[in-house]
Parts: sequence; structure tokens; C-alpha cells
Amino acid sequence: MNHKFFVTAAKGLEELVAGELAALGLAGIKAERGGVAFSGTLLDACRACLWLRTASRVLMVLAEFPVATPEELYAGIRSLNWPKYLKPEMTMAVDSVLRDSAMTHSGFVALKSKDAVVDAMRDKFGRRPDVDTKTPDLRINVHLVKNRCTVSLDVSGESLDRRGYHLDRNKAPLRENLAAALVAFSGWRGETPLYDPMCGSGTIVTEAALNAANVAPGLLREKFGFQKWPGHDAVEWRKVIAEAKGLRRSALDVPLRGYDRSPGSVDMARQNASRAGVAGMTSFSAADFSSFAPADSPAIIFMNPPYGERMGEIGELVPLYRQIGDTLKQKCKGSTAYILCGSSELAGHIGLKAARRIPVWNGPIECRLMKYEMY
Ligand SMILES: C[S@@+](CC[C@H](N)C(=O)[O-])C[C@H]1O[C@@H](n2cnc3c(N)ncnc32)[C@H](O)[C@@H]1O
Repeated sequence: MNHKFFVTAAKGLEELVAGELAALGLAGIKAERGGVAFSGTLLDACRACLWLRTASRVLMVLAEFPVATPEELYAGIRSLNWPKYLKPEMTMAVDSVLRDSAMTHSGFVALKSKDAVVDAMRDKFGRRPDVDTKTPDLRINVHLVKNRCTVSLDVSGESLDRRGYHLDRNKAPLRENLAAALVAFSGWRGETPLYDPMCGSGTIVTEAALNAANVAPGLLREKFGFQKWPGHDAVEWRKVIAEAKGLRRSALDVPLRGYDRSPGSVDMARQNASRAGVAGMTSFSAADFSSFAPADSPAIIFMNPPYGERMGEIGELVPLYRQIGDTLKQKCKGSTAYILCGSSELAGHIGLKAARRIPVWNGPIECRLMKYEMY
């Protein structure tokens, strides 16, 4: 049976996600604000969860209807066929997102929606599912935009950037799906040596290795949203996993190297790459950027330098950005560099002419991915 799905994406990444869905052979792909729609079976959506690198979540759309009051919201949600998706012994949670609507309190909308689902279930079974906001068996998404309500089920569960290899994600300033997006924007698939001289916890190098080695990023995850659903076909899912495992490459033709001046970050980068299964394709060493020069050239260089988010930091970082420009010009001839800049002022201090400037959002921070070609 075919369903309508919506894959959510960080602002700026919608076209990349649409390209990934097309590569998976999916139908009805349409990029919209905040994500990409497609149509297919539940198994298609499960495969998308396993393979998508740059997306945030995969949602299965159940219904859309106009809603101006809490009563209309409750009635619309209660009328849906919940026993098809839920059993009384399953746990559930409701997420809500509101924009430009008469109702303005997302916590209230989530609560009212939860009551409607619970009441519908109690009518049918005389029992109700419990709420578990952290790891529910079914995560329901209620999206209200301009008084139009879309009710969806979250196929992915935890968001897809949580691949499972990053233990200390709180310290990682770059999400895994954004790191994958930087690599995807460059079009690199393992043809030239790759460097990240300010690699931090190694997210860009690790995501690049996963991509070039054709490793489905979801293979590292233990859990997806759909696994406890009544309609989930565990036998077909195991085949999808087995097929993905068979498509992995065990070695790459080029080196992928990360450096950072912080030995603690380098250690974390090594551990992350190891958990991601790409330790043999990557190498990480402690080094200051002042000594950076790609040993293998032409190379592709990615960098996510410090932005200076706090007051006063921008001025302190000017010499570093000047040094980035000088190093690229003097030591990286023939190579191409992609630098994620969170401050246009600092980007100006690189002092080189950018071949491309791609707008991307790192959480709430509007950034530019600057491309420099060093002839
Ligand atoms: C924004 S973080 C990079 C985060 C990284 N993309 C990740 O996935 O965790 C910037 C990194 O640049 C490093 N750094 C700053 N100045 C440096 C320098 N002069 N040489 C080498 N690394 C430097 C910092 O130690 C920090 O880890």
C-alpha cells in the first residue's frame, strides 16, 4: 500500500535530500520548504531511514485538515484510525510544531492531540497506551501551519543525524547530517585525498568515509521509529539491512586525514571513526594549522573553523582566518577548499575570491559554505 511521506531537512538542505531520495529510486519527490515529499510503501520509508545522509526525519502523513480551535483539533485527531497504528500496550508521544496559526501554544496542542488519541484507543480497547516522551514505540507528529493540521507518524524515531557513533554529541558543534551535506555539496565521492585540518571530533572526515565507502549511515543505529509498529515487516527489513551490508566497501583508494591542535579532540575523532567502522580508511593526528600543507595534491579540504559566537571572540579570530587564506594560497595550489563560515565578517578575512557561497543553517546560525579553488 502506498503512503505519502515527508522527509524533514535543515533549511538549505532540501535539494540534497531530494537528490538522495531520487538516487533511492523513490516516486513523487517534491522539495518544499523544510523538507521533501515522496510517496511509496512503508518499506520504502524504512529504506530511506537507513540510507539518507543529509535528512532529519522521515514522517508518514496520515491526514490533513483545517483546524482553528482546540475542539476541531481534538475531533480531527480522534476520528483517525488509531487502532491500525497503535496497540494499548505500546507507548506513545506527540510532538507538535506550530506556525502562523490561531493556536499558539505547542505544549497545549500536543496535550490535546494526545488526549484525542488516548480517548480513541480507550473507546476501542477499554485500555490506553502510556506516554513515553523519550523512547516511545510510536511518535506522532502534529504540524499546524496557517490553521492547517498535518498528522504524521515519525518513521525515523530519533532524528536521523543520531547515527550512533558520536558518544559525546553535546560537544559536537556540527551535526552528522550537516557534515554529510558539506561533503555532498562538493560532489566528492572518494576521487581525491581529503583533509580537515580543524577536524574537532572528526565528523566531516567520518561522514566522508561513510559516503565514499557506500556505508548506509543507519547501519550503525540500534533503533528506528517503525520497528515496533503493527505494520512493520521484520523479514523484509532484515533483507534491506543485509543488502546494505553487502554494498559496503572495505577500503578507499585515497587517504582521508583529520588534524586538530587539541589532542583530546583528535582522540575523540579516532574513537568516533572507529565506532563508525571507518578507522582503517581515516587517520587523525594532533597538529596546529600553522604547519598544515596537504601531502597529497590535488586534494579536497574541508574546514569548520571556530565562528566566534560570543562577544569579543570575532576580533580574536581574525588572525586565524587570515592564516587560512594565506595557507590556502601558498601551500594548497591545485586543491579545492570548502569552509563553513558562521560569520560573514570573518569569512571576509580569508581574503580570497570564493567560487561559490552556499547558504546552510547550523541549527539557528545562518552560515555560508565557501568554496575556494586554488589554481
Ligand atoms: C568548530 S570546531 C570543529 C568541529 C568539528 N567539525 C567536529 O565535527 O567536531 C573547530 C575546531 O578547530 C580547532 N582549531 C582551532 N584553531 C586551530 C588551529 N590553529 N589549528 C588546529 N586546529 C584548530 C579547535 O580545536 C576545534 O576543534
